[in-house]
Amino acid sequence: VDELKKAAAMAAVEQVPTGSIVGLGTGSTLAYFIRDLGERIHKGSLQIIGVPTSLQARLLAKEYGIPIRDPMDVDHVDITIDGADEVDPAGNVIKGGGGAHVTEKLVAALSERFVIVVDETKLVQTLGEKFPVPVEVIAPALSFALKCLEDLGGQPALRTGAGKIGPVISDLGNPIIDAHFGPIADAGWLDRQINNLPGVVGHGLFIGMAHQVIVARPPEANPRVEIISFERATKR
Ligand code: 5RP
Repeated sequence: VDELKKAAAMAAVEQVPTGSIVGLGTGSTLAYFIRDLGERIHKGSLQIIGVPTSLQARLLAKEYGIPIRDPMDVDHVDITIDGADEVDPAGNVIKGGGGAHVTEKLVAALSERFVIVVDETKLVQTLGEKFPVPVEVIAPALSFALKCLEDLGGQPALRTGAGKIGPVISDLGNPIIDAHFGPIADAGWLDRQINNLPGVVGHGLFIGMAHQVIVARPPEANPRVEIISFERATKR
């Protein structure tokens, strides 16, 4: 799977025009992308400014010598490359396995082009099949949000992590709930319902946001890397 992630990331780098402002997504796939971007900058074949979506992306950009700007300091992003946990046939995705979905969604919304890079194991028929919907909430809303997500048909649980006792705290300082729904019949409806809950900072359903999905398949597949384009329904 790592080889597939690398192949998807390499194909994504080809999509980045020199001189552009580039949203730098989060995750293990994106780590390959950011490294390759840095190598090209170092060689002088590419010039970009990166807009990191997480502390991880920021640290990688620093390590590989990519100049960065905070999302707060840009009025637009030309292209954002990001990973995903599940992708459906319409290009809707679940993100947030790395807990960075709030800033990832912000940077995606600022972007002229939002490109998702995945290996084929992330493709599903219906969102929610395998992966929970991550929901970041302010701490005082935890009990309320757990109850509401259950009322919406989910099986929510507070995310706890390795290397720390107790809940995972996001880069933005909030706990994260993972809500398992199983196959989600109407992801657009669920997106709006969760958005409407008081105390929710953001969730990992990205509906109608992706322009393109780059899918890497095993070496024996033809084509090895497929680029699927979508008409973007909404920027935010
Ligand atoms: C982080 C994300 C990641 O993009 C997603 O979890 C995929 O990660 P990976 O490339 O490591 O499989 O949404 O919040």
